[in-house]
Amino acid sequence: MKQQNSPDKHYLLEEAATFIRNSCAERNAEAEAEPRIRDAAIQIEAQGYYEHTWQELEQGAKAAWRNSNKCIGRLFWDRLQVIDGRGIRREEEIVDKLLEHIKKAANHGKIQPMITVFDPHKPNQDSLRIWNHQLLRYAGYETADGIIGDPDSIEFTKACIELGWQGKGSHFDLLPLVVQKGNKPPYWREIPSDIVLEVPIEHDKYSLFGNFEVKWYGVPIISDMSMEIGGIVYPCAPFNGWYMGTEIGARNLADEKRYNLLPLVAESLGLDTKRNSSLWKDEAMLELNKAVLNSFKKHGVNIVDHHTAASQFRIFEQKEQMAGRKVTGQWSWLIPPMSPSATHIFHKRYDNTLIKPNYFYQSKPF
Ligand code: ARG
Repeated sequence: MKQQNSPDKHYLLEEAATFIRNSCAERNAEAEAEPRIRDAAIQIEAQGYYEHTWQELEQGAKAAWRNSNKCIGRLFWDRLQVIDGRGIRREEEIVDKLLEHIKKAANHGKIQPMITVFDPHKPNQDSLRIWNHQLLRYAGYETADGIIGDPDSIEFTKACIELGWQGKGSHFDLLPLVVQKGNKPPYWREIPSDIVLEVPIEHDKYSLFGNFEVKWYGVPIISDMSMEIGGIVYPCAPFNGWYMGTEIGARNLADEKRYNLLPLVAESLGLDTKRNSSLWKDEAMLELNKAVLNSFKKHGVNIVDHHTAASQFRIFEQKEQMAGRKVTGQWSWLIPPMSPSATHIFHKRYDNTLIKPNYFYQSKPF
């Protein structure tokens, strides 16, 4: 007998069937599953992929967030706003749509969790990729006097400069958006600064940074991960929530390999940096994190502190249990980088099994 399916089609159909059964069950529509699986099977046989309905796309994107083992913010998975960008193929229009995402998600500070989903991988069609790690991110430059800006962006910044972009050379230059279709030359555009929400970071009692003006952008929009739903892979699906303060105050601004501001903060506060045991790093980190939280609050931009985020995660765990689902998680990512043992997460174990739909790392396109 002739083999009916290539192994790829076979895998895709299995993934599709599992997803369709689960998502129908979740919306109490079990009866819809088998007819829909037959329909997907016909599409897969004919064209090597199947197209998600709007409902499947929305449900799948939300489930992908719910299944993100590293994320402490999952209580709000059902509030994800899903924007359907499928069918948008021209690079200019894709960038238009990305700018719209930046604006809408910021929502004047009342940040809206959002994902914009562009075309999935399809046989015989050039796939889309966003080169940016996040839609908003500061450039990093290696200079003779050391690194200017965000060291984490050095490689991508070089790629942008090769494409013809010119940065101002400041510590907080927003990088342009870069999108690429297949192997075509990438298309890039500067982000108009008036649509970007940024927050100057200031402590309400002390001057922490001397003359150095520190700021951060309001919305973290991850744009280099793929989303996989029922075997279909969306390589271009930028998504955002809002910040947890420690991401900025204990990592982006504090890590030695990022803005490395703890020594400056400690000096400004007059701390004894000669002895580790003075705990100057801890004290500087604490004041820096208070400054981040207060500044966002003062400017009306949503942010969550790590204690509140942990309690919200506890509620998520309870709700999932009540819904009859197992919570998976990656402990080393779920614990916040400050005072982890002051949260319940530190004192528990988590099962790091990967459940799909989910978001995945992809290799760098540049
Ligand atoms: N940690 C990353 C950053 O500091 C953002 C990751 C996503 N964070 C979030 N709150 N949704 O930029």
